[in-house]
Amino acid sequence: MENTKKLTLVIEPDPILHQIATKVENITDEIDETLNEMAKIMEQFDGIGLAGPQVGVQKQIIIIDAETIAREDKVELPKERYLKIINPEIISVSKETCLKEEGCLSLPTIYYTVERPEKIYIKYLNEKGKEIKLDADGLLARCIEHEIDHLKGKVFIDYVGPLKRKLALSKLKKMKPRK
Ligand code: NI
Repeated sequence: MENTKKLTLVIEPDPILHQIATKVENITDEIDETLNEMAKIMEQFDGIGLAGPQVGVQKQIIIIDAETIAREDKVELPKERYLKIINPEIISVSKETCLKEEGCLSLPTIYYTVERPEKIYIKYLNEKGKEIKLDADGLLARCIEHEIDHLKGKVFIDYVGPLKRKLALSKLKKMKPRK
């Protein structure tokens, strides 16, 4: 099988992170390979979730380290380590919100507390094209909400207010490009 082109992490500020990702029309082997490659990058940088735009792929695809999240939340471990989410649609979110500090692989060294819905109910396609409905809370919900935002061209510092946002962006601009 042919190798997909080498993917690399996109760092803010980058216009790719602010564009809307398109729906996947056909779930091919290439999509699954891209998701596997994303899992490797996520692991390399100690992340728990990664969305297509973060590796320069403007498609509605997300990889989530469900096992690490379950460990963190002290809930039953999932059958498979990774959750592969394609074309997610939010069915509903809870009115209740919660606060937690967040980071993002595209915004290294930046951590801020973000308010998000406590629970989320979504439907999506897995890498086999099967429709899945998922009710999530805790860190899993937060992570899914954060990654779905990436597909909409949104990053977490969009929630923190203009001053903190400006501070984060100036900090990122001073960083040396990562190889
Ligand atoms: Ni992120």
